[in-house]
Amino acid sequence: MIDESGQTDALLAHWRELMQSNYGVPRIALVSGSGAEVVDAEGRKYTDFLGGIATNVLGHANPEIVAAVSTQIRQLGHVSNLYAHPKALSLAAKLRRLSGDDSARIFFCNSGAEANEAAFKLSRLTGRTKVIAMHGAFHGRTMGALALTGQPSKADPFRPLPTGVVHVPFGDLAAVAELIDDETAMVMVEPIQGEAGVVTPPPGYLVGLRELTMRFGVLLALDEVQSGMGRTGTWFAHQADGISPDIITMAKGLGGGLPLGAMLALGSASGFFQPGSHGSTFGGNPVACAAGLATIEVIERDGMLENNASLGKYLATELSHLNQVEEVRGRGLLIGIGFRTEIAYQVQLLLEERGFLSNAASAYTLRLAPPYVITEADIDRFVATLAEILKETTL
Ligand SMILES: Cc1ncc(COP(=O)(O)O)c(C=O)c1O
Repeated sequence: MIDESGQTDALLAHWRELMQSNYGVPRIALVSGSGAEVVDAEGRKYTDFLGGIATNVLGHANPEIVAAVSTQIRQLGHVSNLYAHPKALSLAAKLRRLSGDDSARIFFCNSGAEANEAAFKLSRLTGRTKVIAMHGAFHGRTMGALALTGQPSKADPFRPLPTGVVHVPFGDLAAVAELIDDETAMVMVEPIQGEAGVVTPPPGYLVGLRELTMRFGVLLALDEVQSGMGRTGTWFAHQADGISPDIITMAKGLGGGLPLGAMLALGSASGFFQPGSHGSTFGGNPVACAAGLATIEVIERDGMLENNASLGKYLATELSHLNQVEEVRGRGLLIGIGFRTEIAYQVQLLLEERGFLSNAASAYTLRLAPPYVITEADIDRFVATLAEILKETTL
């Protein structure tokens, strides 16, 4: 029996014994949370600047999500895809509206990898098999999503993967122009690369990709799993560029902390899937959809898009003044702090010791993706603590 009220050491010993080794052993066991604060098994508090990796957009134990989920699970918890459910339809209608395209049709799933897997399968229904994706891209860990992911260290042990995917440098329009042709099914790209360390492309990149893909009748699929749901100050990051893609994939913040993903296909792509093309037992689960609806309602009600944009600017400006910070990348509340030297992991640990959660996306980059309920006061405390850490001579 596991003592769920046990302390960190005991819980992590169980982790070592019970869990697969694919993640490594965590250092912290979290047991509760409220707003932007989480509490570990020792009762220590942390301000959460990572939000369950860009997922708990309304923070922890948000009352509207708790109420929506509780009401729904009392009424009807799961129906499968053999039956319609009003919550899935309401959420689909909302997502169509947020996409800004009345032709959008929605496929629900449970994660980002599944959303991209769906996009990959949909692209095969063009009758073409070539796909252009980007170096450094992260699209998930299932075999199809891994084939799209542009990180050989993650993909190499699992080859052969589905074929046809060619990777080119992110942000390099000329490299896409050189490869794209009338045998290309899809170009897949993150508007801002998240796992690669919050990398933004040069201005005009997405517009250029849209022009190239239209010229050759190629689907443009945007992976908004990390950059979507209002994090960057618009509902989807690509909306800042004024383009309309053929496919948008999303997950993470979509369910406000519950597992929920979606693939939206727009225009002619919206008609490619036919009965039997694809499926998911849990996709569109009423409880997850109720959480998704509540999440969107609160973001709209509380004007969080504008707030994310302005808080993000404030955070980025404050960070950019710090010693050892070479650059601050990203937009809104998706931020990568680029250090001059390989200190990111050590900084993450020191921040944890002083009560802040963040994530070293690479040796040089600390990633921040806080919940939208983070305040200017939280930011001031975070920046002051980071400044202290960066002044320490041991780094
Ligand atoms: C851009 C992007 N796409 C896809 C994924 C995969 O999502 P999931 O872990 O939910 O499968 C992630 C996860 O980090 C991501 O950042």
